[in-house]
Amino acid sequence: MADGGSPKVAVVGPADGGPVSVAVATLEPKSGSKVTGTARVTPSASGAVVLVTVQDASPGEHGVHIHEKGDCSDPAAMSAGAHFNPNQGAHHGGPNTPVRHGGDLGNINVNATGGGLLVVTVSDLSVDNVVGRSVVVHEKQDDLHSDPAGNSGARIACGVMRGE
Ligand code: CU
Ligand code: ZN
Repeated sequence: MADGGSPKVAVVGPADGGPVSVAVATLEPKSGSKVTGTARVTPSASGAVVLVTVQDASPGEHGVHIHEKGDCSDPAAMSAGAHFNPNQGAHHGGPNTPVRHGGDLGNINVNATGGGLLVVTVSDLSVDNVVGRSVVVHEKQDDLHSDPAGNSGARIACGVMRGE
């Protein structure tokens, strides 16, 4: 855009109208938290690599999921809906459990200064199928098995995935 070309509005696609090669989200605080962060999904030979960062979270483990709706408008992020679940009949799990929702990313470990980084490769996700959905970070640790959401508590940060 630095060349003064006419700007385009892209809701979920890249600004140049080309194919989506990466999905990104900016996480905003929810449920009264101060948690912010980013998410990035890139293709890999074995599915997709999901990279999530957070700041200003409480130390320890926090569940992270891709939720089915790209809508973080609710103050508690309930508008994001349930876990993204493209696998019919699946139960909640972790990123590498045999039975899982496609959006189950496990936990992000937050350090003593409130920062965390999660990098996970997921075999049944792609950049295309996460665009237009949301990434949600939770108050508590995900137990990686309890339906529907691993007992991970409130939704403390949320961001909508857009293609770039
Ligand atoms: Cu969640
Ligand atoms: Zn789940």
